[in-house]
Amino acid sequence: MKAWQEALLAWYRKHARPLPWRGEKDPYRILVSEVLLQQTQVRQAIPYYRRFLQRFPTLKALGEAPLEEVLRVWQGAGYYRRAVHLHRLAQQVEALPQSFAQLKGLPGLGPYTAAAVASMAFGERVAAVDGNVRRVLARLFALEGASPKALQGLAQSLMPEEAHPGEWNQALMELGATVCLPRKPLCGACPLASRCRGKEAPERYPLPQRRKV
Ligand code: ADE
Repeated sequence: MKAWQEALLAWYRKHARPLPWRGEKDPYRILVSEVLLQQTQVRQAIPYYRRFLQRFPTLKALGEAPLEEVLRVWQGAGYYRRAVHLHRLAQQVEALPQSFAQLKGLPGLGPYTAAAVASMAFGERVAAVDGNVRRVLARLFALEGASPKALQGLAQSLMPEEAHPGEWNQALMELGATVCLPRKPLCGACPLASRCRGKEAPERYPLPQRRKV
């Protein structure tokens, strides 16, 4: 592993916010957290995450519940299509498939969510690239105007062989969410600042936040 990759992982282990889904192993629970986080801020997502899993602790329990109840429990989290998709998914499969390729295309799972679940729950070496990760990479390598596709490829090539893919993905996300902020990045607290080529003008890399699907 390169020194900067070690530095990022060490930073993540020390500074990651203690969120309820951190260290979670159950693929279903990871899926619920990632679907919530598609369009809901971390702080707001936490109570819904707890409430949803309390009422629907397993994929089976979710699939057996009536849709109206699923929607009632989701109430307030917004973007109800996400709840409809989760419910449909639970009725479609008995267990979550274990590969990115199979996860992608299930109801409500686009490339980001499929990669997040595949890497975190099943250790697949696939980069989960959201708006935070795109911003981090664009700044780190001073890539003005890089396309999402290019950044996806870059993220895939940067994933260290020796790291746990889920931990690596979350480390990049966490850096983007807490340090490499869109407007006023906290470069003084960044483990990668000494190698960051965008540090002198971070505002030049405010990639548009693409909707995660
Ligand atoms: N945003 C999307 N996935 C996340 C995760 N696992 N932790 C924190 N923020 C996230």
